[in-house]
Amino acid sequence: MGSFSPRLPLLLLVSFFTLLVDIETASEFKICAYNVEKFNSAKASDYRLLHTVTRIVSRCDICLLQDVVDSEAITTLLAALNRYDKYRYQSVSSKSLGNSPDDMQQYVFIYRVGNVNVTGQHQYQKKQSFVREPFAVQFQSKKTAIKTFILVPLHSNPSQAVQEIDRLYDVFEEVSKKWNNKNVMFLGDFHASCAYVTRADRKNIRMFNNKEFSWLIRDKVDTTVSTDTNCAFDRIVVHGKPFLSAIMPLSAKAFNYVKDFKLTKSKAQQMSNHLPVEVRLKSSALLLQATPLLILIGVSAIVQSFLSAL
Ligand SMILES: *[C@@H]1O[C@H](CO)[C@@H](O)[C@H](O)[C@H]1NC(C)=O
Repeated sequence: MGSFSPRLPLLLLVSFFTLLVDIETASEFKICAYNVEKFNSAKASDYRLLHTVTRIVSRCDICLLQDVVDSEAITTLLAALNRYDKYRYQSVSSKSLGNSPDDMQQYVFIYRVGNVNVTGQHQYQKKQSFVREPFAVQFQSKKTAIKTFILVPLHSNPSQAVQEIDRLYDVFEEVSKKWNNKNVMFLGDFHASCAYVTRADRKNIRMFNNKEFSWLIRDKVDTTVSTDTNCAFDRIVVHGKPFLSAIMPLSAKAFNYVKDFKLTKSKAQQMSNHLPVEVRLKSSALLLQATPLLILIGVSAIVQSFLSAL
């Protein structure tokens, strides 16, 4: 009895590192928003542009695209994504929205089929409130600490950005009632900075004044490609403590793909003058991932007592 087995510490060490790797990969649930500026089939048929968008979208479990002109472009992008990546991607799109026939835009959510389910869609209807009324989608995932959440996109009209951002509060009331769910995230190009939304304008925006809303992309973040602009146009905002505590702290940022992919700014601007913004959700799997470790500890304890009984 009690003779020391060198196998136990080794087993523990191995399982500990396995656990670390598991946590690292399991915690990567990413939500992104990207204004792709008049993304149409002509743009999607440019190999280089398509490749760039593919690389950007393939980093995300859910990616909101804004300013999508035709659904053919999305068909092309989905085909490219499904060739490029091990995940399978699908999309859910709004109708074409807008006031003028030559500037109609769709909101499109592209998501990894195996990681998240769409459980509802809702087109906000009050035409006088927005040029492109938010198209809310409810998602459900077993992979995230938060089970069911609603994403509300906005690509605001610059000249009425303050009013439109303020009216997101009305959208919040409508969708949270509809689905009996207050886990709501707002995302997109709000034009919430520089000349369109000044510091003085904030008192007129309910989501700024109401402490229940957390603005995860801060005012100092530059979400533009150009060196001439330094503006936090693109934002991610969440409602409520439950949602906030299900988000990886400090994970919200603009993704500077220009640097990361080593592109020139002028090449990047052929795609868009916006950078994608993103945030990571905590994984549901921490406990689940720990189970193999517990089993290993149990097994090694049995093996050890068996060996010492010999
Ligand atoms: C999506 O829904 C199906 C059917 O309810 C379920 O089996 C699957 O696990 C869900 N996927 C995720 C990632 O939650």
